[in-house]
Amino acid sequence: MGQLLQHFLLKGLLFLILSHFLTQCVSSVLRSCLDSERSALLRLKDSFILNQSASDDTLAYPKVSSWKLEGQVGGNCCSWDGIECDDNTGHIIGLDLSSSFLYGSINSSNSLFQLHHLRRLSLSNNDFNGSEIPSAIGNLTRLSRLDLSWSGFTGQIPYEVLQLSNLVILDLSWNQLELRNPSLKSLSERLLNLKHLDLDRVNVSSTIPQSLANLSALTYLSLVACELHGKFPTSFANLTQLTYLWLPGNEFNPDTLSWLAKLTKLTSLNLDSTNSSGDVLYSLKNLTKLIYLDLSLNQIFERIPSWFGNLTGLIILHLGGNEFWGSVPQSIFTLKNLVELDLYGNHLSGTYKLETFLNLKKLKMLQLSSNHFSLLTTTVIDVTFPKFTLLTLASCNLSKFPDFLLSQDELEVLDLQDNKIHGFIPKWIWGLSAQTLHVLDLSENFLTGFDLPIVVPQWINLKLLDLRSNMLQGPLPIPPGSIEQYFVSNNLLKGEISSGICNLTSITVLDLSNNSFSGMLPPYLGNLSKSLSVLDLQNNNFSGLIPRTCEKGNTLRMIDLSQNQLNGHIPRSLVNCNMLGFLNLGNNQIEDTYPSWLGRLPELRILILRHNGFHGAIGEPKSNEFPKLQILDLSFNKLTGCLPSRHFQILRAMKVVDLGKLRYFEVDVSFVGRETHWPIYFSYSMTMTKAGVELKYEKIQDFLVAIDLSSNKFDGYIPKDIQILQALQFLNLSNNFLSGPIPPSLGNLSNPQNLDISQKKLSGEIPQELVQLTFLGFFNVSYNQLIGPIPQGKQFGTFGNNSFEGNQGLCGNPLSKKCYPGGLSPQPSSLSKKDDGEDSWFQFGWKAIMLGYGSGLVNGLILGYLFNPMKHKLFVKYFGRQIQSRRKGRMN
Ligand SMILES: *[C@@H]1O[C@H](CO)[C@@H](O)[C@H](O)[C@H]1NC(C)=O
Ligand SMILES: *[C@@H]1O[C@H](CO)[C@@H](O)[C@H](O)[C@H]1NC(C)=O
Ligand SMILES: *[C@@H]1O[C@H](CO)[C@@H](O)[C@H](O)[C@H]1NC(C)=O
Ligand SMILES: *[C@@H]1O[C@H](CO)[C@@H](O)[C@H](O)[C@H]1NC(C)=O
Ligand SMILES: *[C@@H]1O[C@H](CO)[C@@H](O)[C@H](O)[C@H]1NC(C)=O
Ligand SMILES: *[C@@H]1O[C@H](CO)[C@@H](O)[C@H](O)[C@H]1NC(C)=O
Ligand SMILES: *[C@@H]1O[C@H](CO)[C@@H](O)[C@H](O)[C@H]1NC(C)=O
Ligand SMILES: *[C@@H]1O[C@H](CO)[C@@H](O)[C@H](O)[C@H]1NC(C)=O
Ligand SMILES: *[C@@H]1O[C@H](CO)[C@@H](O)[C@H](O)[C@H]1NC(C)=O
Repeated sequence: MGQLLQHFLLKGLLFLILSHFLTQCVSSVLRSCLDSERSALLRLKDSFILNQSASDDTLAYPKVSSWKLEGQVGGNCCSWDGIECDDNTGHIIGLDLSSSFLYGSINSSNSLFQLHHLRRLSLSNNDFNGSEIPSAIGNLTRLSRLDLSWSGFTGQIPYEVLQLSNLVILDLSWNQLELRNPSLKSLSERLLNLKHLDLDRVNVSSTIPQSLANLSALTYLSLVACELHGKFPTSFANLTQLTYLWLPGNEFNPDTLSWLAKLTKLTSLNLDSTNSSGDVLYSLKNLTKLIYLDLSLNQIFERIPSWFGNLTGLIILHLGGNEFWGSVPQSIFTLKNLVELDLYGNHLSGTYKLETFLNLKKLKMLQLSSNHFSLLTTTVIDVTFPKFTLLTLASCNLSKFPDFLLSQDELEVLDLQDNKIHGFIPKWIWGLSAQTLHVLDLSENFLTGFDLPIVVPQWINLKLLDLRSNMLQGPLPIPPGSIEQYFVSNNLLKGEISSGICNLTSITVLDLSNNSFSGMLPPYLGNLSKSLSVLDLQNNNFSGLIPRTCEKGNTLRMIDLSQNQLNGHIPRSLVNCNMLGFLNLGNNQIEDTYPSWLGRLPELRILILRHNGFHGAIGEPKSNEFPKLQILDLSFNKLTGCLPSRHFQILRAMKVVDLGKLRYFEVDVSFVGRETHWPIYFSYSMTMTKAGVELKYEKIQDFLVAIDLSSNKFDGYIPKDIQILQALQFLNLSNNFLSGPIPPSLGNLSNPQNLDISQKKLSGEIPQELVQLTFLGFFNVSYNQLIGPIPQGKQFGTFGNNSFEGNQGLCGNPLSKKCYPGGLSPQPSSLSKKDDGEDSWFQFGWKAIMLGYGSGLVNGLILGYLFNPMKHKLFVKYFGRQIQSRRKGRMN
């Protein structure tokens, strides 16, 4: 936030100066325009539709509406809006149609390209519907200024642009353009008069050409996210006239920016996400004219240099997302002009009075979250405190709500997550910045309740309220009707859900999990499902029937009602949940037949019905059932009949092994505000019985493939075709009435880590083929009627007695009963297809994962445990904001 503002302020200024010029010209114009050019303009006007959504600038208006023959100015097109004529010849030399609601395609036949005398052309902020830049642009050889930014152009920039050798200003930013043939190199070899070059978001995908340094007149160079890479030519030191240099979002080689030291005229420098290291700091010492400095999201592992205090002109200072350490030098607090100070996500430490920061009276944005700060709150109420719009003080060891917040009436984002604030939420919070507040995060504190009587929240624009992981008691507080995301999980809230919740018609995320709410679920949950994408009510005391939840046209992606006391049938309306990926109804008292109709949900990836009263046989599947299912947990029910072997054949998603990416099952419910982006990924969580123990997983790797059919009443044989599920990592068939032999084909599974088939009636030998299961971490066949030698070698060496006990006929290690006289056993390796088990770990891309997250992974089937979920969240929070601030969307 703010970067864009600054960007546009600068651009806007330029625009104002130019339009001032234009107005001056127009008022002094006496000449009438030429007939041919007038008719070209009228045809130009007719070639587009006026469409309000084509320009998103608040000052936009349809300039061409004033272009008509009748009326006061009549046919003199020199006085039409956006037109500038030459005083002497009457030729049109300037055309400014920026932000004019123009919508439609444009090509070289457009009459625009007959205006050969044009020197200045701006079509910025319209929507040319994905047109390519017409090659006829090359005919306008007199152009000195060309602005086609934000206008929906696509494709390769035409070669003809290189004919415009008089160009001084060229702005092609924020389209979907490519600059490869011609390349940035040829452009910088031909357009030698350029002073202002803006190619933001143009896909250049090359190294920086040496020839760019030829453009010695450049004062403004902006190359945001151009897919540039490699070394910076040290020649760049010749661009001494530069005042504005933006390079964010390009992956340069580190330490190739020393030439910056020579650019002493720089006022605005943005190196966000450029792969820069600490060395870059030394190049900045002499840049005393800097107003804007952004070094966010790099790998700077340094103290904040105290000479930053010499950059007295600084208005914007962004250092977030680096590895700055040590204390904040006092000199920073002398930068009285600072409007934005961002230190988010570093390793900075120290104890500071909050006033120290508040003495920077011009601050509007302050980000101190995720360092090792301790902030001492102030009791002084000073009317001259800065008025913040964005304030993030997460993990700052605050012990109470800072009083100065009382004076804040312009806040849009307030983040106090993970502090040590105890006690009641004071009443005044409910009216804090009532008109402006969009995001309020008070999660992970020690808040116990609300200062009574509960005041109705006065926020009219609040979109996100996060009260997770406190100690809140009492009934559910109902947020204002504007709310989109509401999180109150992990508190001590109780009672029934008030009907006020049905007024939340914009809500997309409702997370009430891990509280003590009781009573029936509100019958109108279905109404909310039109906007909801996440409904998480797990681990409460809700009882009664599950209401209709999925109205037609719903967007639900996740429903978790597990660990309640819900009963009755599953509502058949669930079949309308076309986008549902996760359904967890486990640990309730649902009495229903096996809901095979859920197989019609096209996006369902995880289905958990464990610990209920599901009964009956599973039956024959339809061929297209469960196209994306990866995790199926039907354990602890009363299901009967044969194991669903045909199901094993059709579960398509389970057959594909994809271990390449480290991702979780999650729903992207990121909050997108006017200027902010607050990435939130809502992770699926679940409980599984692993190695005989119930474990709760807060996050689930999205490559996990698991079937748990244990503790039912299935009978018959273990089907041979289970091996078709190549991706299966977890299989639990224990505690059924299965009988007969263990199929040798189980040995063909490529990577199960858990195999539990303990029963009462399995017979025959344990197939030697199972030795090939090198991933196997848990194996249990206890209490059956198995006979013969236990396979030896590989993982089998790691299983203890209890994996095999209770089988009279088994012999060999680890049991004391020997199989052969003298203890000899057959050579297991002759049966192994893969000689080196470790190779198979790596061939699916596990290596990268292991390097990143350490050896704990070997046993960590589900990686949620290994992560500090909070760190993860904070990082993405920050990162996303950065990306978003470069997104299309403009100020002014
Ligand atoms: C207006 O423009 C938007 C895109 O900018 C387009 O999606 C929409 O269809 C247009 N409407 C009309 C009526 O042309
Ligand atoms: C926009 O582009 C689409 C696809 O190329 C085309 O079908 C449509 O007619 C265009 N609309 C206008 C108004 O030019
Ligand atoms: C250019 O656009 C006009 C309409 O604006 C269309 O009639 C003409 O066919 C197009 N020419 C080409 C070469 O696509
Ligand atoms: C542009 O220039 C080319 C070559 O000089 C010419 O053939 C073409 O007609 C011109 N186009 C327009 C629109 O003037
Ligand atoms: C840019 O172009 C390169 C080369 O064609 C391509 O690989 C890359 O995906 C493009 N980047 C974007 C963001 O489109
Ligand atoms: C930089 O400028 C110097 C002196 O004007 C000149 O000799 C040198 O060739 C220039 N370097 C580049 C890469 O343009
Ligand atoms: C900064 O300026 C001083 C004096 O003008 C000069 O001696 C020094 O070399 C410059 N530093 C860098 C890194 O260029
Ligand atoms: C910063 O300013 C102080 C006082 O003007 C001066 O003594 C010091 O040398 C300056 N530091 C740098 C690195 O320019
Ligand atoms: C729902 O909103 C309406 C209109 O704003 C209000 O009158 C009603 O009291 C609200 N219902 C509840 C239960 O809060």
